[in-house]
Amino acid sequence: MPKSRQRKKRPASQSAGRGGWTGRVVAAVLAAGLGVGIYLWRHVDGGDGIRVDVTVPDLSGRAARGEAAFARACAGCHGSDAAGSDRGPPLVHGIYEPGHHADVAFYNAIANGVRAHHWPFGDMPPQRHVDRATVREIVSYVRALQCANGIH
Ligand code: HEC
Repeated sequence: MPKSRQRKKRPASQSAGRGGWTGRVVAAVLAAGLGVGIYLWRHVDGGDGIRVDVTVPDLSGRAARGEAAFARACAGCHGSDAAGSDRGPPLVHGIYEPGHHADVAFYNAIANGVRAHHWPFGDMPPQRHVDRATVREIVSYVRALQCANGIH
């Protein structure tokens, strides 16, 4: 009696084992797909960088001064109108909305540089020649651009 009960159990436990194996294959396929997706996302631009279309609003006062400072100090990498280039990411981008990268992120980036973590461009070197008052103007400018492009 106990033996026959054991025999009956075996197929059930084997099929459970097979189910677990299938699950692992599915998980592996999904993980591989995710890896390919991330690879394509990072390389799809073929080294031309990432550029976005930016609507430039009327700028005045601090934001207008920020535009000039940005063109001198930042546009070489972040592109004109902060739209991105082959050396740095667009700042008019959901990643840099105020709730995700508060103004302090700009001060820190300029004082200390940025280790590459979101993009495949490499590190941003510190920009210590840009003083705090100018950073404030640049932040006004970038926030005005973001706002005009639906990034709040
Ligand atoms: C030599 C190229 C270069 C210059 C010049 C440059 N940046 Fe960057 N910056 C980068 C790169 C590349 C990144 C993205 C790093 C990452 O997340 O992968 C970045 C990221 C940033 C970030 C995001 C920081 C964070 O916390 O993730 C801010 C803000 C920023 N830059 C602002 C500026 C401003 C403002 C200027 C001009 C004063 C400037 N950058 C000049 C290359 C540059």
